[in-house]
Amino acid sequence: MGVFSNLRGPKIGSTHEGLPVANASSPSSLRRKVSSFLPICVAIVVLVEIASMGRLDNASLLDTLTGFFANSPSGKLSPIKPSGLKDGSGMERCEEWLEREDTMSYARNFSKDPIFIYGGDKDFESCSVDCAIGMKSNKTPDAAFGLSHQPGTLSILRSMESARYYLQNNLAQARRKGYDIVMTTSLSSDVPVGYFSWAEYDVMAPVQPKTEKALAAAFVSNCIAQNFRLQALEALMEANVTIDSYGTCHRNRNERVEKVEALKHYKFSLAFENTNEEDYVTEKFFQSLVAGSVPVVVGAPNIQEFAPSPDSILHIKQMTDIEPVAKRMKYLADNPDAYNMMLRWKHEGPSDSFKALVDMAAVHSSCRLCIFVATRIREQEEKSHEFKKRPCKCTRGSETVYHLFVRERGTFDMESIFLRDGDLTLEALESAVLTKFKSLRHEPIWKKERPASLRGDGVLRVHAMYPLGLTQRQALYNFKFGKNSSLSTHIQSNPCPKFEVVFV
Ligand SMILES: *[C@@H]1O[C@H](CO)[C@@H](O)[C@H](O)[C@H]1NC(C)=O
Ligand SMILES: *[C@@H]1O[C@H](CO)[C@@H](O)[C@H](O)[C@H]1NC(C)=O
Ligand SMILES: *[C@@H]1O[C@H](CO)[C@@H](O)[C@H](O)[C@H]1NC(C)=O
Repeated sequence: MGVFSNLRGPKIGSTHEGLPVANASSPSSLRRKVSSFLPICVAIVVLVEIASMGRLDNASLLDTLTGFFANSPSGKLSPIKPSGLKDGSGMERCEEWLEREDTMSYARNFSKDPIFIYGGDKDFESCSVDCAIGMKSNKTPDAAFGLSHQPGTLSILRSMESARYYLQNNLAQARRKGYDIVMTTSLSSDVPVGYFSWAEYDVMAPVQPKTEKALAAAFVSNCIAQNFRLQALEALMEANVTIDSYGTCHRNRNERVEKVEALKHYKFSLAFENTNEEDYVTEKFFQSLVAGSVPVVVGAPNIQEFAPSPDSILHIKQMTDIEPVAKRMKYLADNPDAYNMMLRWKHEGPSDSFKALVDMAAVHSSCRLCIFVATRIREQEEKSHEFKKRPCKCTRGSETVYHLFVRERGTFDMESIFLRDGDLTLEALESAVLTKFKSLRHEPIWKKERPASLRGDGVLRVHAMYPLGLTQRQALYNFKFGKNSSLSTHIQSNPCPKFEVVFV
């Protein structure tokens, strides 16, 4: 249960600096005080002893103890470490204290008042935040497809078309037009909608014998394109790469075939998109992977990021690549060992990077949209004065404990984790995250979606961890906390920072 779960117990008075101090007016705290009197006496003796040995030789010690009895709500106390003392009830652990103090109740309870998105169909089964998508409601939508001119309603643009053909899909263009939430194939968009998913493509389907004589199959039907794909097809043919063309462009095979079934028997598949746009990778590519036919790509300049493993695809970036790629295809066709290496991922599994990309689609894009909207609403509220008062850290003696929040990508609720200032490192963060999610017996969101052979052995591993709010492009490829200091700076300068984690 985290900060999003609206839980909040009755608040007891406290200092701002982290020492919980019972409020004198509360009967329960009075009991607390009396019951903790004895351990405190012991503590004083111990502390005085330590102090006289010169280890704790300043006023903070005195402040701490006076503060403890005087219930000063304002004191800039530097409370003593609970360890080494009897654990008096007034000296609860920083973690427990922060858990309580930092938990705020939000004005909106999404269970009672779900996110409402106007203009689409509810096309997912379940989502980690309550969400209704539809046309009928008497309340103001939180978001709507199309340009909404209603205050309080975010405008959503959703399209899977390339921005080369549909200029309005360009991210900057869409923002200028007034869209608050952009959903396109771009991994830099707010809620990416890709052509890929484990559900639609049986990516791990076994490799079939390559029985066709031609090296490659092509299914190119729109003979006009914004890129050089037609010239590439012609040039490959001229370079004596044998190609069976089933599409309308340079057609030389007339039978009607089921595309993926047909592809299975070719060593190579020409996955030629009609535009070379970052992240615009369509079914042509994923069908080649299903078929176990090595994709030869004309398309996204960053297609290697979509490859199931390094050296598993061929990329024609420009016309001058035709000759070396043709040569490589012929070499691979004559050298089964080298060729089979390119399909090794079919037996050994794809890279973590590929899994992390496709896992994104394990959560339906409409649910991811709901999570995006709900997160926005929470963030707005967190700007309020009340939220700014959360302590978010707790100091005991020389040690400070920071309160962090983390969730798995594709889910809404945040979990609490704690880091000590002596150890604000990536290793410590990762280890705290794993400990937390293990203790919750957390099932990763991809568990039911991935093919059985890729579901792992139940051991969670962290693939990426990043501040909440980054795009998937940043999260998966571009963002990294630098040498531990940047994480430490981030935590110190963002009270109660939130992170998202991608498990593989
Ligand atoms: C939110 O609403 C649900 C359903 O009505 C309720 O069970 C839950 O306790 C509420 N949460 C809070 C924090 O009020
Ligand atoms: C003693 O006081 C100084 C300054 O007031 C502070 O920086 C230091 O952390 C204190 N030492 C201990 C052990 O509390
Ligand atoms: C293609 O094959 C023809 C006929 O065998 C030959 O004349 C030509 O040089 C070859 N072209 C290339 C690029 O290998």
